[in-house]
Amino acid sequence: MIYPITIYGNPVLRKETVDIDKDYPELQQLIEDMFKTLYRAEGVGLAAPQIGLSIRLFVIDLNVLAEDDPACDGFKKVFINPKIVEYSEKTETRDEGCLSLPGINESVKRSWSVKIAYFDENWVRHEEVIEGFPARAVQHEYDHLEGKMFIDHLSPIRRQMNRTKLSSMVKGKIRCRYTIKSN
Ligand code: NI
Repeated sequence: MIYPITIYGNPVLRKETVDIDKDYPELQQLIEDMFKTLYRAEGVGLAAPQIGLSIRLFVIDLNVLAEDDPACDGFKKVFINPKIVEYSEKTETRDEGCLSLPGINESVKRSWSVKIAYFDENWVRHEEVIEGFPARAVQHEYDHLEGKMFIDHLSPIRRQMNRTKLSSMVKGKIRCRYTIKSN
């Protein structure tokens, strides 16, 4: 199924998330549906709170960006119970958007690489260093599991510039090319 995507103002985006275990019901179906929802919305990453679930799970597929950035080629991953254990001191500032913040694109400074421990969809444990744009995507989705969104990284002035858009989201008064759930 395709899930509606929760947008700014929906309290689930600010809630704490919990680890899941192997008994989590219909996990494979859920992962498949998260990818379906992601592709329908033409995004590159989707975290469980964005479909209303307060669990530590996100999916990323950067293949559509492969032409512009070789680091994105073949990067399709499922992250279960992830834990970022290291953030590089080296940072990079680039534009970001979010399916839960339609119409907002802003520069965000993030670590250029991260070391992350997680389980994949087969419950195989990984601990790896991810660099470049994939590291940005991972940090963005990881933020969602911490109840954070990319606008939290903006300066007060940049936030203020987006105030009108944000308040329309809270009121559910926005149009979007995918199905949304405001609150
Ligand atoms: Ni997002």
